[in-house]
Amino acid sequence: MTKVLFVCLGNICRSPTADAVFSGLAKQLGREDIQVDSCGTGDWHIGYPPDQRAAEEAKKRGYDMSHLRARQFKADDLDAFDYVFAMDSKNLADMNVGQNHSAQVGLFLEMFDGPGGDVPDPYYEGGFDHVFDLIEAQSKRILSNI
Ligand code: 4NP
Repeated sequence: MTKVLFVCLGNICRSPTADAVFSGLAKQLGREDIQVDSCGTGDWHIGYPPDQRAAEEAKKRGYDMSHLRARQFKADDLDAFDYVFAMDSKNLADMNVGQNHSAQVGLFLEMFDGPGGDVPDPYYEGGFDHVFDLIEAQSKRILSNI
């Protein structure tokens, strides 16, 4: 099994989007060897389902987020997963990644020669359509490399 974790701030917008999109694309590719999860560095939304705006955009694009519930990132995740992808640079900094962990950790959009930069936080500003576009394209790139 290859285990992949997506990390954002609240675990209700960007990382559950990546969770649902990456899982959906992996399934389409017949990649039953891939397991996906997501979490947030913050604790405000623990136990909550994804943001309604993300869930609606997911449905439009044929992905299902309805089973997802927010949980908080923990240091053990850096050993429990093979890949840990942060959605923005603050999320990456907030994970306090040290030296002694087994996961490959990095900024989601930078991996495997992606476009780089942050996935913008859509919670206050909106822009879920653009967030989904970025996540779909980069998920395809990652899936062709792992
Ligand atoms: P996410 O978005 O990190 O993509 O899940 C956010 C969700 C909630 C908050 C901020 C960002 N918040 O401040 O509550």
